[in-house]
Amino acid sequence: MSNVVSYELVGNIGVISVNSPPVNALSQAVREGILNTVNAAAEDASEAVVLRCEGRTFIAGADITEFGKPPMEPGLPEVLSAIENSKKPVIAAIHGTALGGGFEVALACHYRCAIASAKVGLPEVKLGLLPGAGGTQRVPRLAGVEAALDMITTGNPVAAAKANSMGLIDEVVEGDDLQAAAIKYASDLVASGAPLKRVRDITIDASTIEPGFFDAARKKLALRARGQIAPDKIVSCIEAAVNLLMDEGLERERELFRELVTSPESAAMRHIFFAERQAAKIKDLPKDTPLRDIKKVAIIGGGTMGGGIAMCFANVGIPVVMVEINDEALARGMKIIRKNYTITVAKGKLPADKMEQLISTITGTTDYADLGDVDLVIEAVFENLELKKEIFAKLDAVCKPGAILATNTSYQDVDAIAAATNRPQDVLGLHFFSPANVMKLLEIVRGEKTADDALATSMQIGKKIGKVCALSRVCYGFIGNRMLGGYGREAQMLLMDGCTPAQVDSALEKFGMAMGPLAMGDLAGLDVGYKAREGRTDLPDDPKLYRMGTLLVEMGRHGQKTGSGFYKYDPETRRRLSDPEVESMIKEEAAKLNLEQRDISDEEILQRCLYPLINEGALILEEGIAQRPSDIDVVYVFGYAFPAAKGGPMHYADQIGLKNVYDKICEFRERDGEMYWKPAPLLEKLAKEGKTFAEWGSENG
Ligand code: CAA
Repeated sequence: MSNVVSYELVGNIGVISVNSPPVNALSQAVREGILNTVNAAAEDASEAVVLRCEGRTFIAGADITEFGKPPMEPGLPEVLSAIENSKKPVIAAIHGTALGGGFEVALACHYRCAIASAKVGLPEVKLGLLPGAGGTQRVPRLAGVEAALDMITTGNPVAAAKANSMGLIDEVVEGDDLQAAAIKYASDLVASGAPLKRVRDITIDASTIEPGFFDAARKKLALRARGQIAPDKIVSCIEAAVNLLMDEGLERERELFRELVTSPESAAMRHIFFAERQAAKIKDLPKDTPLRDIKKVAIIGGGTMGGGIAMCFANVGIPVVMVEINDEALARGMKIIRKNYTITVAKGKLPADKMEQLISTITGTTDYADLGDVDLVIEAVFENLELKKEIFAKLDAVCKPGAILATNTSYQDVDAIAAATNRPQDVLGLHFFSPANVMKLLEIVRGEKTADDALATSMQIGKKIGKVCALSRVCYGFIGNRMLGGYGREAQMLLMDGCTPAQVDSALEKFGMAMGPLAMGDLAGLDVGYKAREGRTDLPDDPKLYRMGTLLVEMGRHGQKTGSGFYKYDPETRRRLSDPEVESMIKEEAAKLNLEQRDISDEEILQRCLYPLINEGALILEEGIAQRPSDIDVVYVFGYAFPAAKGGPMHYADQIGLKNVYDKICEFRERDGEMYWKPAPLLEKLAKEGKTFAEWGSENG
């Protein structure tokens, strides 16, 4: 018997228990253990077999760390085949999350029962994969083609009750004692002479599928999952489930899985999976760093940002008090929150009565004296250092000892803000991204004097409110916004050199960015960048620098909010439309500056926009602003919609080869000057040594 899978006979029921922490992933040892115990059960006095797991969850999938390594016997299909062909009914008993290969194990069983809190899902698409062990063949047989397509292409888990109504599980058992309930369920099945139900024996009636259904699905997914290759192949597998025999469908699925598992897209997405978990770990913090209790939170400022942050806490049941300068401002803030929740209700993602309950956890005040009992304060007022310092001095006076005082600033010096208090050890940055209730990233900014337990608590609370956290040291713009400088600059420079806005944006959107940089500027407001540039003395004195952005703002074209910017926007649909006026203006401005416009390839657009991200990332690593290259990738994927299928800027750079990136930057330096292109010393060093950022990351701990 293996040490991760055990077997015992309880009455007439054989019980297989998987115990492979943390998540019972299907490592070679687990696969072998299940295979051996299923075979053993075939020979003993058991009349049915329950397959269950110890620890926090049912099997959470294949062991992702084994991907990319030589396959080890037994393969998962062999294990599933042994289960499915067992002459005694095998019953999966699910708690926690039965995901990916784990759910596929359950689907190969003859019956599935689960406790109410369990979830099942096929999240492979999030790793650039498809379910490679029958998931695409069995889910449509049980739940129908449409539901299967939705479940497998979104990768979102389904709660037990819903899975039950979809036909994916047979029984939701009561209480928390799953083992006892599953044994009872199994005994009842035996007593009633229940048949060996094999999902493979179900046939899908192809005539129920509308003609053109799969083509339409492909088109929709190509738009939704730009840059990803897995969704299209998932459609092919489900199509195979309809049109081919089970074994042929399984063969097709296996073939397409093999293509994906060796693809750069999946390697990048697996990198992001581990990078996300790694980013939550602070290198020099002991694992047992004590945590502070966060039972009540205050948000200073009830604007769009403050309101969104308040919602994050309300959503997990933590009471929030919102502070504003007067009652009107408070009422405005509460109105924004109600509006946001109403949209969620309208989308069917929140029941209306739950909305009222959530809103009731957010109260308002105009008096700082009411903040004496809060455990965490997040200041989210506009970007003015003096104002922020004033607020922190007030907080220092009223907050209880040990309360964490955080600023949501995007640019300001967190240490200067901390210095306005007598407790800099309690001060740090919690930088949310707009809209705060939606965007996954939370940059946690560690000040010079921030205490370890304040940091550890922030990481924990960030996870609790559903954010992906990454640690940054203090610098202008922290990790994410600091890196954006060259990206936005080159997007505008490309216009002067001969591109249209649509050409620049479409190159980056084809690469997989959710929105190109110029369209993003229009969305954020071109006046924001304009104002930020006004105070800067470090920018090169070059008339072509940000020329279009500046002129457009001076014409009153501030972006989407004024109906036009780099583009014009349809007043009804808000769809962005190319604007011939802007396109001829670009040509005129280039002519005024005697710039020769030329045809520019998509490849050059990508290099000029993305290489500055990589170069600044290298500087950020050398300066110790980010802990590791993969943290930068996490910031970009979760905060700036950099395509996960490209793995974030640093992983992408490793794929291109750092020497290629370095050489190109040197070439641009020759052409445009050192004021724009100056290779980071770390990039130069690694390029010359033939190393990757990932290698540098592991060498630097
Ligand atoms: N393989 C290897 N390691 C895994 C893993 C997996 N499938 N799933 C989680 N882990 C590791 C994590 O890396 C983490 O390790 P560290 O503690 O060293 O950082 C640890 O398990 C705990 O994971 P989380 O921090 O994510 O724990 P959680 O409780 O927040 O979430 C979970 C648990 C919901 C299971 C989450 O880990 C998860 O979503 N895992 C991935 C599930 C998945 O994608 N499964 C499909 C795999 S592909 C597949 O199965 C292909 C196929 O068809 C055969």
